[in-house]
Amino acid sequence: MSPLPPGPGNVVLSTLRYLRAPYERMLQMAQRYGDPFTVPSFLGPVVTTGEPATIQTLFGSSPDTFAAFGADLLGPVIGESNLIILSGQRHRSMRKLLTPPFQGARMRLYGELLKTTAEEHAGRWPRDIPFEVHRTMQEISLEVILQAVLGFSNPAARAAFRDVILDVIEAIRPTFMFMPFLRRELFGLSAWSRFLKVRMRLAEVFAHELSTRRASANRGQDILSQLLDARDDAGAPLSDEELLIQMVNLLMAGHETTASSLAWALYFVHREPAVRQRLLAEIRALPETFDADAVAHLPYLDAVCSETLRINPVAPSIARTLEKPLTLGRYELAAGTHVGIAIIVAHRNEQIYPQADRFLPECFLDHSYSPFEFLPFGGGARRCIGAAFAMYELKIVLYTILRKHNLRLLPDDDGPISAVMRNTTAGPSRPILMVHEKRS
Ligand code: HEM
Repeated sequence: MSPLPPGPGNVVLSTLRYLRAPYERMLQMAQRYGDPFTVPSFLGPVVTTGEPATIQTLFGSSPDTFAAFGADLLGPVIGESNLIILSGQRHRSMRKLLTPPFQGARMRLYGELLKTTAEEHAGRWPRDIPFEVHRTMQEISLEVILQAVLGFSNPAARAAFRDVILDVIEAIRPTFMFMPFLRRELFGLSAWSRFLKVRMRLAEVFAHELSTRRASANRGQDILSQLLDARDDAGAPLSDEELLIQMVNLLMAGHETTASSLAWALYFVHREPAVRQRLLAEIRALPETFDADAVAHLPYLDAVCSETLRINPVAPSIARTLEKPLTLGRYELAAGTHVGIAIIVAHRNEQIYPQADRFLPECFLDHSYSPFEFLPFGGGARRCIGAAFAMYELKIVLYTILRKHNLRLLPDDDGPISAVMRNTTAGPSRPILMVHEKRS
């Protein structure tokens, strides 16, 4: 086995820098140390690449080459049967159960819901007073998940579940997440203890909801209702505990990611007048009657969404752990080594995207990129299962907002807004302030 590629030594400093400026940090490391480089992390060094050919080696390797990153550490917090930390056969069979509702005709059932949710929330924007765009996008994406994924059509039940899930998300602390010795109850006074309490409350609310749904013969079109009747390869249904873990996972994986991407898209569209003009012309050329399929097929809207995910990917990097030795370029890596893919480095490669730091949706009209050059949803056996749904949501929400509302981005003396890590995703470092003006 060879020594690991070069990289910075100080894990605390390097992590802090990454959390504060994830794109700049990854790009700096790639430039300074060459590719691949080693990123220090609290789980151990991560051998990281942003080179398409090396990414292809990783995504192209047999799925059994890798285990999930950080499974032992995260399991007690997010649930041992959580898809994102399962590996091997258990991962494959859970994915098989969870993926179908996010694809094809089943996904397209949510077009109307996406439009009405966006309309309702954007309809509350004040006129001529600055407001914060990211907050509304968080509300929209949470509402969509509560209805499309969990099927809470009753507003009171939805609000109760929303409150308790927000409490759980709030109670998750990076401290006990990454430092297991802090998982102590301390007579009910610790952050861990608070987390356990709200998690128990969530389990109660969810158990009540499951018994109501099971008692009814009518199944909704939502993902939870469809999973109630799903069976794994051995013919077994998911237990209540498994259902809860997967639902919370879908909510956490799909909520902030989509909200931040929507906020970035609105930011770039309103920062670049030519982009806004071209997009509005395309959107307004559609007939007045809403047709979700037609919206999803608008080429420039598609290019704007892709360009948003390219220039500001909400997951700047992803990681796996080797189950078997692997050769990566001139490095022979032992089983147990962590490997990472710096999505942001691939997306800002000037040889692939000539003006990589500029927001230029046109590049997606003239060119199609390989899954090793454009990978906002990761790749291989762990690629995001909500990718098609997320693109659908981005397009319909943007269409609905832009078609009806005239927004203006407030000038910001501090220059362009950069990204910062919020929980696990890269979101805007400062509020994106806009004004809702009367239609010209
Ligand atoms: C713009 C929005 C989104 C982005 C950019 C995004 C991105 C990602 C990325 C980068 C990964 C890791 C993939 C890898 O390791 O190769 C991932 C995994 C995942 N995403 Fe998304 N995601 C988004 C929305 C969603 C939505 C809406 C859902 C579902 C409601 C979802 C569910 C998941 C799940 C369950 C996984 C874990 C897959 C596995 O480990 O097998 N995501 N996502």
